[in-house]
Amino acid sequence: MSTSVLLTGGAGYIGSHTLLALHATGLKPVVLDDFSNSQPEVLRRLEELTGAPVAFEQGSVFDSDLVARMVDRHQIGAVIHFAGFKAVGESVADPLKYYRNNVGGLTSLLATLQGTACRSLVFSSSATVYGDPASVPITEDFPRQHTNPYGHTKLVGEDVLAAVAASDASWRFGVLRYFNPVGAHPSGRIGESPNGIPNNLMPFVSQVAVGRRPFLQVFGDDYPTPDGTGVRDYIHVCDLAEGHVAAVRHLLAGNPGFTVNLGTGKGSSVLDMVKSFEAASGKPVPYRIAPRRPGDVAECYADPASALALLGWQARLTLDDMCRDSWRWQEANPHGYGG
Ligand code: UFG
Repeated sequence: MSTSVLLTGGAGYIGSHTLLALHATGLKPVVLDDFSNSQPEVLRRLEELTGAPVAFEQGSVFDSDLVARMVDRHQIGAVIHFAGFKAVGESVADPLKYYRNNVGGLTSLLATLQGTACRSLVFSSSATVYGDPASVPITEDFPRQHTNPYGHTKLVGEDVLAAVAASDASWRFGVLRYFNPVGAHPSGRIGESPNGIPNNLMPFVSQVAVGRRPFLQVFGDDYPTPDGTGVRDYIHVCDLAEGHVAAVRHLLAGNPGFTVNLGTGKGSSVLDMVKSFEAASGKPVPYRIAPRRPGDVAECYADPASALALLGWQARLTLDDMCRDSWRWQEANPHGYGG
C-alpha cells in the first residue's frame, strides 16, 4: 500500500494543516500548488514544523504531464484535491473563473489519474451544497441545492465524481462536506492568510481584534435564531485536517467511496463568536449591526454522526480553542504570510 498522498492546493489554508496531520501519522504528503491563493512562505514554515523537506512542485492541476509525473515518481496512493476557488461573491462576478478552475480542474485531474495507477481521491466539498436547509442538523441525505456559482461548482464536482465512480468500479472517492473551517495550528506559524478584505467572519473578527479594521459588520440581527444573528458550525482547521487523514486511510485500506459531513454538530452565532474571540484575545471586537448579506441562511450546522460511524472521526476542539489559536496566529502574523 502506497503511503504517499498528493495534495493539490497543499500550500493553502486547509491543505497546509492537512499536510502536518498526514506527516504526524506517517503518511507522506506531496504538494502541488500554483500559489494562486497561497504564498511560498508556508512551505518554509511547514518544513520548520515537520523538521523535514516538503516534497513540492509549483504548477497547476491542468498540467497533465506534471501531475502524471508526480503520481508516478512518488507512487501516489491517493489524491486530496484542495485546489479550488472559494469566494462566493467573486463567483457571482466571474462565474467562468469558477467553473473553469473548480469543475475543469477536477475533470482534468481525473482524466490524468485515469492514465496512472492512482484511483483514490478525496474531494473538498462544502456545506454550501445544502443551500438553505429545511431544518438542522443536516444529514448527508438532505436535498442538494445551490445559491451561487461557487456552490454550483461543488455540486457539479460531486456529480462528476458519482458518474466517474459508476463508470469504473476501480475508482474510490471520498467526498468531504466542510462546514465553517476556522482557527490555526497551535504553533501560530501557519494559519489563514486571505488576500484583501476577508469575506469570512473569523478572519474579519481577528483583523478587528488586532487593529487592522475598526469594526465588524454583523450581517443581520433579525434571523429566527436565539440572538437573531446567523448560526454556523465552526470547526477547527486541525480537526478538519484529521478528518482528511481518516478519509485517506479509509480509502487506502480499500474501502468503498463515501460522502460525509465534517462539522462539530454545534451551532454558534455571530455574537457567540465575537464574545469567544474577545475572551480568547483580551481585545475588544467592536461591531455594528448591518443589513443581512444576500444569500446567507439563518442556520447551518451538521449532523456529524456518519463521519464518526464510517471513519471513526469526530471534532474535538472547542470554540475557545478555535479563537485562541486564531488569535495566536493573527497576533504573531498581523499581515498573514505577507509580513
Ligand atoms: N458574517 C458577518 N460579518 C462578516 C462576515 C460574516 O456577520 O463580516 C456572518 C454571516 O452573515 C454568517 C456568518 O457570519 O452568518 C458566517 O459567515 P462566513 O462568511 O464566515 O461563512 P458562510 O457560512 O457564509 O460561508 C461558508 C464558506 C462558504 C460556503 C458556506 C456554506 O465560506 O465557502 O459556508 O457552506 F459556501
